Amino acid sequence: MRLLGTAAVITGAGRGQGAATAALFAAEGASVVVGDIDLDAATRTAKTVADAGGTAIAVHADVSTANGAEALIEAASENFGRLDALVNNAGVALFKQIEDITEEEWDRVVDIDLKSVFLTCRAAIPLMRATGGGSVVNVASAAAMKPIRLQTAYAAAKAGVVQFTRALSLDVGGYGIRANCVCPGPIDTEMLHASLSELASPYDASRLPLGRIGKPAEVGAVSLFLCSPEASYMTGAVLTVDGGTSVGTR
Ligand SMILES: NC(=O)c1ccc[n+]([C@@H]2O[C@H](COP(=O)([O-])OP(=O)(O)OC[C@H]3O[C@@H](n4cnc5c(N)ncnc54)[C@H](O)[C@@H]3O)[C@@H](O)[C@H]2O)c1
Repeated sequence: MRLLGTAAVITGAGRGQGAATAALFAAEGASVVVGDIDLDAATRTAKTVADAGGTAIAVHADVSTANGAEALIEAASENFGRLDALVNNAGVALFKQIEDITEEEWDRVVDIDLKSVFLTCRAAIPLMRATGGGSVVNVASAAAMKPIRLQTAYAAAKAGVVQFTRALSLDVGGYGIRANCVCPGPIDTEMLHASLSELASPYDASRLPLGRIGKPAEVGAVSLFLCSPEASYMTGAVLTVDGGTSVGTR
């Protein structure tokens, strides 16, 4: 077990990639704080982990608020006495033409996709530092590098996550904390299916280099690697997990 004796906080873990990541971390021995704005969904993920023999607690948290971000870190401290891994996975998409985006919609995307990453890291770093270091994985998007139409707000927020992570790696490396970024391409989750329905033309995954949409666990596996001892010399890295989406189409 690669994460035995460690504790992890995973945001937006009620479904999709976050739920898959929580299951993978728990299977490798981590005790997991399953955070989500949807407590019922977080509770379902925690139960799935427990049924498989793992340890997880569900916590209601809106990570776009300081209170929500801090609640997750406090849950790790109170229940597990430490924090070794933080996966900032929670996110929302917005597919909209620039003239039609309201200020409220812009703020919502930037608050949930970017500000949340600052808030959880700010809360987590002191505990990680106190318990000997750790690993932060921020889930950005292939859109940070290669946006498609209607993604101005989302692509800007996710590009911010990439550069936040690189800057963070400079500030926390001396504490024994690594910070890396994962950029998924199209992954089979509710977010993707809702987003694709916003596009005027059908999305043809067969034209991607790997010819298919990815599975949530294929992203979770990379986050797991980044939080494992095998990635001990990796920080400030940006890993695309996108079946080649950011390269182009065949
Ligand atoms: N699915 C894709 O194709 C894709 C591609 C690139 C990047 N991503 C990114 O991967 C991450 C996971 O996406 P997914 O596809 O699993 O999405 P999803 O919509 O299936 O799940 C997102 C989860 O985040 C939770 N959430 C939303 N707002 C929150 C908030 N304010 N506080 C706490 N939790 C909140 C939701 O309740 C949900 O459980 C996101 O950051 C997303 O932007 C997804």
